[in-house]
Amino acid sequence: MSIIAVGSAKASPGATTLSVGLGLSWEATTGRRAVLIEADGDGGVLAARFGLASTPSLVELSATARHELTIDRLQSSCQLLADQLPTLVAPGCGDTTSLVLAPLAKRLATGLGQLDDIDAVVDVGRVRQHSPAVEFVQHCDLLVLVARPQFDQLVPLVHQARRVISHDIPTSLVCVGDRPYPPTEMAKASQLNLLGVMSHEPRVAQALEHGLPANQRHRRLLLWRTLAELVHRIHFRLLAGADGQEAA
Ligand SMILES: Nc1ncnc2c1ncn2[C@@H]1O[C@H](COP(=O)(O)OP(=O)(O)O)[C@@H](O)[C@H]1O
Ligand SMILES: [Mg+2]
Repeated sequence: MSIIAVGSAKASPGATTLSVGLGLSWEATTGRRAVLIEADGDGGVLAARFGLASTPSLVELSATARHELTIDRLQSSCQLLADQLPTLVAPGCGDTTSLVLAPLAKRLATGLGQLDDIDAVVDVGRVRQHSPAVEFVQHCDLLVLVARPQFDQLVPLVHQARRVISHDIPTSLVCVGDRPYPPTEMAKASQLNLLGVMSHEPRVAQALEHGLPANQRHRRLLLWRTLAELVHRIHFRLLAGADGQEAA
């Protein structure tokens, strides 16, 4: 399994929204199943935002912590987002999420790495050294840092980029929207590789609520085309990384 960690440096640029979009688009583009894990130490929003129940959640998974992580154990703690995407939600309370996640994250991150045929998109919230999700960042195959191309997000992004680069964590940047600052300039200043630009769609939450459209014509809408292209680029990077490791 590959772990794609999605997080931000500061503010609320759209990391959770992108995580959901990538998760929903993953299988149609890569042919591999995906699971979405909400590991945001500030607390979960997915259950409330997508009409899911508060249980099962990370709490139920943590109760199985003494056993090996299997697909069945993982899936029995997941709910289906938009009737499509197995999703492990975090409790809405940040303190509870942090309490549960801190001892669980390492086992979950290493356990996920052992599972075949399924990839994990992990919403890690803000990427911080003392975040309870830091193990996901350290064990991920790719960290996608999300930022709006605004000057006030550039400074924290540059700092965060320095940190992850110095720790050798494979990282790419996704900008949400392309104004007012050119995403290429954000990438240049942060020395991050620009994976792409997530379209700025005022009704993005409503669009994702219905999941990936079954109808191919509807998948040609900008949002789904953009997500498919981002998934395609991530998958390509993962394959290139795996080839590099094999060759080494
Ligand atoms: N691509 C986007 N286009 C327009 N609005 C967005 C987009 N992504 C997120 N938003 C909006 O921004 C707000 C924060 O999004 P969220 O994904 O929760 O951010 P984060 O996880 O970074 O805190 C939400 O109201 C969401 O609908
Ligand atoms: Mg979020």
